Amino acid sequence: MSVNKEIKRITTHTLQKMKREGEKISMLTAYDYSMARIIDDAGMDVILVGDSASNVMAGHETTLPITLDQMIFLASSVVRAAKRSLVIVDLPFGSYQGNSKEALNSAIRIMKESGAHGVKLEGGITEADTIKRIVSAGIPVMGHLGLTPQSIYKFGTYAVRATGNDEAEQLLTDAALVEQAGCFALVLEKIPASLAKQVTESLHIPTIGIGAGHYTDGQVLVMHDMFGINKEFKPRFLRRYLNLYDEMKAAAEQYIKDVKSGDFPNEKEQY
Ligand code: KIV
Repeated sequence: MSVNKEIKRITTHTLQKMKREGEKISMLTAYDYSMARIIDDAGMDVILVGDSASNVMAGHETTLPITLDQMIFLASSVVRAAKRSLVIVDLPFGSYQGNSKEALNSAIRIMKESGAHGVKLEGGITEADTIKRIVSAGIPVMGHLGLTPQSIYKFGTYAVRATGNDEAEQLLTDAALVEQAGCFALVLEKIPASLAKQVTESLHIPTIGIGAGHYTDGQVLVMHDMFGINKEFKPRFLRRYLNLYDEMKAAAEQYIKDVKSGDFPNEKEQY
């Protein structure tokens, strides 16, 4: 199915219509203006300013260190580039957990200071009141269940979640709760495809999977992984569309050579 570029701006309602009509949703992360321009121009439905910026932009081991101010800075750059895509921003670790008033303040700061179109947060039953409070202020919320990286120290590993019955049952309950609380869509990360299918069929809101198989209503990847800017990260779910690490390294090596040899700049490249 080709991209419908006639749509002026993707909204949360567009995504829900896509689910009803069986059109898959495309989502990719971006963290800066120039990359977001390319991704928006390609016709991406949703750009996620993920807290994965903590890993791929800042080089941290986990998503925990990134701050609300840093997320707002990245998000405002992405928003300036996005003409068509819906821009959703992660509420970072520590900006919403366990205190729905503080969560609402964090979400309001993201919306006011970056101009984004909605927020994403991790968690099910524990965050239901927070989701309700943010949604009742008019802010769209995307949920996130399964492998939720802000809880990495609780999980202990980045392995597939909900492979056992108890965790799978809890995930189904959590999915129903975040829908009832008012989420407009739900990210499912690293869970068995059969469970993602069950969740997707049980909800009215769209599911967007990463490592959750092909039954979800859409897919999301981290931009650096999808373009091959990362070399080390090779999970089974990842499809790499470019090998930019090697291509950019080769270009940088060539530039160094040209500068050292005096070949760059040449006669035509000077005033
Ligand atoms: O932060 C992020 O990039 C995410 C995606 C992996 C869904 O949450």
